Amino acid sequence: MKALILSGGTGSRLRPLTYTGAKQLIPVANKPILHYAIEAIRDAGITDIGIIVGDTRAEIERNVGDGTQFGVHVTYIPQDAPLGLAHAVKIAEAFIGGDEFLMFLGDNLVRDGVRAFAEQFTANRPNSLILLSRVPDPQRFGVAEIDEFGKIKRLIEKPKVPPSDLALVGVYLFDHHIFDAVKAIAPSPRGELEITDAIQYLIDSGRHVEAHVIDGWWKDTGKPEDMLEANRMMVEAIATRVDGSVDERSQIIGRAVIEAGATIENSMVRGPVVIGAGAVIRNSYIGPFTSISQGVQVIGSEVENSIILQDTVIDCIPTRIDSSLIGKNVHISQVQERPKALTFVLGDNSRAQVQ
Ligand code: TTP
Repeated sequence: MKALILSGGTGSRLRPLTYTGAKQLIPVANKPILHYAIEAIRDAGITDIGIIVGDTRAEIERNVGDGTQFGVHVTYIPQDAPLGLAHAVKIAEAFIGGDEFLMFLGDNLVRDGVRAFAEQFTANRPNSLILLSRVPDPQRFGVAEIDEFGKIKRLIEKPKVPPSDLALVGVYLFDHHIFDAVKAIAPSPRGELEITDAIQYLIDSGRHVEAHVIDGWWKDTGKPEDMLEANRMMVEAIATRVDGSVDERSQIIGRAVIEAGATIENSMVRGPVVIGAGAVIRNSYIGPFTSISQGVQVIGSEVENSIILQDTVIDCIPTRIDSSLIGKNVHISQVQERPKALTFVLGDNSRAQVQ
């Protein structure tokens, strides 16, 4: 069995961060989302992985390399334009050959992995197996209608009247019949080849499409608030490790990872928190569910429930920063001299809220 990770796309809902970087490389608990996908696939026993890449190909290749660091072998499959999930399958045919494959959306997180999912496929040998999860608001998702044997009868995108509460998670297993399906379907009104249309084609042509329902937490991290929720979930699972330096005036309460080369001076860190290599936390408070990337400086400020990316400086901000996703090399500081005013240099689609 092979695997296909979709790591192209536009990432428009995560602008401005995605103007300068791949959304799949945004870290939660200081680890890129994409790494969780690769590790989940490897832990399910699959080591031959194709990664669909778009405009951010170079950055993803630089970060993941040939996969050796994860114990897998990675092949990159360039997609000229984000023409849909089923289009990504179509262009992967040469890589997949006649094999079965697990397809994983590169911006999805599935906490308990995909091993049991792959095992169900191997045991039952359907033509396709779809990962589903019960959700309270199925109107927002692709939803599956299943029969009493767990066979999928129908898929509906964002139904007004949902036939079930079973949402598509973003992880699928296919045999070679999916290639007939992706060639047969036409683009949807939004101009994309939709994977739900391809799966519906399998169902309509009598193929066996089975459901696998998970209980564990999962997240499609398409929007900033999803990233923060994913971060909360992943930092919750950390075990304390303090490799950096913490002076005697500082206090670490609860679970925290403080990487080598990070310095905590006269500050309070209330976990769960992850602080990256070379970060400096001085005269500050870092509150629960915060991930501070490497090289970040937080001076005389308070940060909670946030993700702060590499080399950003937060200097003497009088109000606590909460529920924020802040990019790389951002400088936020307080003006000392008058006139006191708010001064911004914000990229397109930035969001700033002031009191
Ligand atoms: P989406 O989140 O559905 O799409 P997107 O990345 O274009 O984001 P937005 O809607 O905010 O503009 O994509 C799910 C995953 O699949 C994500 O990792 C990107 C990837 N993808 C491709 O690789 N190729 C594609 O053609 C599409 C549409 C998505």
